[in-house]
Amino acid sequence: MNTELVAGADREQAVTDEVLASFDGTTDPRLREVMQSLVRHLHAFARDIRLTEREWEAAIDFLTRAGHITDDKRQEFILLSDVLGLSMLAVAINEPAVPGATEATVFGPFFVDGAPEIPLGGDLARGAAGTPCYVSGQVRSADGSPLAGVRLDVWGADEDGFYDVQYPGDGFAGRGWLRTAPDGTYRFWTVLPTPYPIPHDGPVGDLLSAAGRGPMRPAHLHFKAAAPGHGPLITHIFVAGDPYLASDAVFGVKDSLIVEAEHHTGGAAPDGTRPQGVWTSMTFDLVLVSDDVS
Ligand code: BEZ
Ligand code: FE
Repeated sequence: MNTELVAGADREQAVTDEVLASFDGTTDPRLREVMQSLVRHLHAFARDIRLTEREWEAAIDFLTRAGHITDDKRQEFILLSDVLGLSMLAVAINEPAVPGATEATVFGPFFVDGAPEIPLGGDLARGAAGTPCYVSGQVRSADGSPLAGVRLDVWGADEDGFYDVQYPGDGFAGRGWLRTAPDGTYRFWTVLPTPYPIPHDGPVGDLLSAAGRGPMRPAHLHFKAAAPGHGPLITHIFVAGDPYLASDAVFGVKDSLIVEAEHHTGGAAPDGTRPQGVWTSMTFDLVLVSDDVS
């Protein structure tokens, strides 16, 4: 047996054991469990890859750059969690597995508080560029009963793939919230989503390039639905036929969330309006899980 190697392994394990023991006195049992597991896995990872000091310095530099580029409009740590699949793993761990319920997906970094309320049937594009899109459907509980008065938050990018928070200045476009009608239905106008790259001019973009991965997300529209007595649902609808459905940079696509966008030229929209030129429509029902079931 190579006694030098054994001594090295003992020395490494002694570091891990000492750090684990430093959390033994943590009074919050969940914090103790989380921190000791983190230390065990983090140290095992470093041993597994035989982490060099130069690599650790590079990792610290990466995290420092992620911190410096983060502000109230840019969240590099959410992007990092998303491209590592950690956000979708957290969704998978926490999502109630109720048959028929709408699947959840990644939240992303572009939700903002304070978006305007839109009347049922109103236009939340608010000047965002793109092909008009009429979106409608019903919000139900998993037992089939319609959910009235549910707050639906919706946000999406414009035809160039930008969210309003990425425009210079302030102001809301491509986002808003509305409440479902007494029969649980909803409807609004927005612009047809198009595929777009996640912000990739920072350290997360550098990581994707170094790994030969692309930054693109398939076209989608974000929804957040919150009804009393039901767990909140955070999801998207994805546009059928999008070329990036099989290679979403953040692993958010689920087949049940893919929706056909119907294209129309002229004619009357379901709300009786007669849009000029090409317009589109999508239909999607949201099924929420009651707190009694989950
Ligand atoms: C988004 O869909 O808005 C998004 C999600 C994850 C990372 C970047 C953007
Ligand atoms: Fe998005």
